[in-house]
Amino acid sequence: MKNNSVLIKNGFVNREIDSSLDLFTEIEKLKKEKNAVILAHYYQEPDIQDIADYIGDSLGLAQNAQKSNADIILFAGVHFMAETAKILNPLKKVIIPDLNAGCSLADSCPPEKFAAFKQKYPDYIVISYINCTAEIKAMSDIICTPSNAVQIVESVPKDKGIIFAPDKNLGAYIIKKTGRDMVLWDGACMVHEIFSLEKIIRLKEVNPAAKIIAHPECEEALLKHADFIGSTTALLKYTKTDNAKEYIVATETGIIHQMQKASPQKTFIPAPPNNSCACNDCPHMKLNTLEKLYLSLKYEQPEIFVEESIRLKAEKALNNMLDISAKHGL
Ligand code: 13P
Ligand code: SF4
Repeated sequence: MKNNSVLIKNGFVNREIDSSLDLFTEIEKLKKEKNAVILAHYYQEPDIQDIADYIGDSLGLAQNAQKSNADIILFAGVHFMAETAKILNPLKKVIIPDLNAGCSLADSCPPEKFAAFKQKYPDYIVISYINCTAEIKAMSDIICTPSNAVQIVESVPKDKGIIFAPDKNLGAYIIKKTGRDMVLWDGACMVHEIFSLEKIIRLKEVNPAAKIIAHPECEEALLKHADFIGSTTALLKYTKTDNAKEYIVATETGIIHQMQKASPQKTFIPAPPNNSCACNDCPHMKLNTLEKLYLSLKYEQPEIFVEESIRLKAEKALNNMLDISAKHGL
């Protein structure tokens, strides 16, 4: 373990914070001192989104990580995202507020099982959604995100078979959009599978003018009812330009912070989960807090490392994605 075991406890820096400090000011100071950049995903808590230098979806974050000239990348997101930044920036220090910020979707695709699965389809091209570990990226030919999955799949010659991993819902949606037959890995995101279609339909009956907008990680039955389907960035853009006044938002609730900021006159209703928990908050994303972010930047821990032979293969698959995206102006 390369992390400083005294400093890190339970995945994050274990130090008291002086309660008189204004964390926003302190973080800004540390950023300048250390030439650090904060990249944050839309599912982070509002305070973290507000202090970030760049907020975006998984494609935007990978693109930003690739072109960053900071010395330190503080990645406010989950582990596979920070790992992606490290794969693209082996010489930079990449840190994350909480090392335990994982992902149920990435966890649903263990490398040994995926290797055995791949062997069943020896000539197939492997396209993996960026929500997977570095090991899975290293076993893939091209990475994709919800923003570019159609173009990535269409870049593969028609006579080639495709394995799509790890999200079966995004995979099924892309099959519908492209008409390409793909073999799907049976993985899913715990947040996007928790929505109650029944409650969403009832909510729509009470608010008939509200539009249902959904992320393609949701199940097909829900997507059938959606007025618009897209990545987090696409959903945000849609709410800015569309003329409805109300939206039922079927993705993680963090994105609503940006939607509300961009369109303060509109109403955004989080799609209800199938029980009374706050399960449409991603428990992994929400492990990061402003306090942990501050400590992480101050002590430059916990740091992300990727074994070099895995990194090189994963980098190739990521660069294939970034090249195809650039060709399409994405
Ligand atoms: P995007 O932000 O790329 O749409 O991905 C959503 C997600 O689930 C990230 O964990
Ligand atoms: Fe993973 Fe789902 Fe959380 Fe995204 S929202 S990090 S896919 S568990």
